[in-house]
Amino acid sequence: MQKKTQKELISLLKLKEDFHFAEFQLIHEGNYKISDADWNYKDVPHLTHIHQLVEGYCGYMGHDVNCVIIVQKMFGMKFPATLSIYESGEKRQTYFMALFWFVLIVETIYEPLGDDRTRVITSYAIGTKHRFLKLFFPLAKLALKRNYANLMSGDIPMRERRGELRSWGYSFKGDNKPYGFYETTLINRSNVCAPNIESEFVIHQFRWNDLQRTGELLLGRSDQFGISIRCDNNKLNFFPRLCPHEGADLSSQCNGDKVRCPWHGRLFNPILSIETASLVAPFQIDNGKLNFMLDNNIATIEVRRSII
Ligand code: FES
Ligand SMILES: [Fe+2]
Repeated sequence: MQKKTQKELISLLKLKEDFHFAEFQLIHEGNYKISDADWNYKDVPHLTHIHQLVEGYCGYMGHDVNCVIIVQKMFGMKFPATLSIYESGEKRQTYFMALFWFVLIVETIYEPLGDDRTRVITSYAIGTKHRFLKLFFPLAKLALKRNYANLMSGDIPMRERRGELRSWGYSFKGDNKPYGFYETTLINRSNVCAPNIESEFVIHQFRWNDLQRTGELLLGRSDQFGISIRCDNNKLNFFPRLCPHEGADLSSQCNGDKVRCPWHGRLFNPILSIETASLVAPFQIDNGKLNFMLDNNIATIEVRRSII
């Protein structure tokens, strides 16, 4: 197997083809782990759900290689390109694509800045064989910077959300054994690992009038014990607030009688659904995951940890 780094590819093209390159770096630092950034860069399904600018059609997807035809919007126009991404080393991914007379070689590396803080350095190299085409480098640089800003506006919240879960004691299956590209497409897996806590359940209470007034309510925080409640079509539906796949926040994602995960589109049925007509105090129902009680104006919900 042969895996060339960005530096090696640039040297090769300079030496053999007399290419000229413009190089620059873009850096982001945030409260997430290296494995969150690594996962985010490999994560294939979020391209469709998070980045509306990019459509990707995979030709070959393996553990450490992904070859895609992308249709990307730039300056108001869509254009196709082929993109190859591969792990060129530990904590390093290299991408390249060619378009007309230009080649673009990008490399992302990660540096730890502490336990849960990471620096991600993205190095861009735009190359061409023809000296006069170097005139286009500033324009290409501008387009790449805009593209980076667009991509990061979707990606950074994903990484920081995982950082938030880590601050609550959560971890992910990919922490010990990094995911491959293909594995990221298996969205029905549960890769969130709950913290070791003694409590088997959490109790939330609220005034029944509050829910009747607004029709929806968020209880707890967006972890395995958090619940969102919605009144819809004469039903009271109780939904999870944490996606067990990779940790997305589901709190505001209700769509009718389902919740759709914003990162990869996984659909969730309510954990519990009650006909509002049957809700006359005193009322109690326990389905093993939730125990709901209504007495006078006080509603009590016991959330069991088994919901993820
Ligand atoms: S995080 Fe992947 S489906 Fe929710
Ligand atoms: Fe992304």
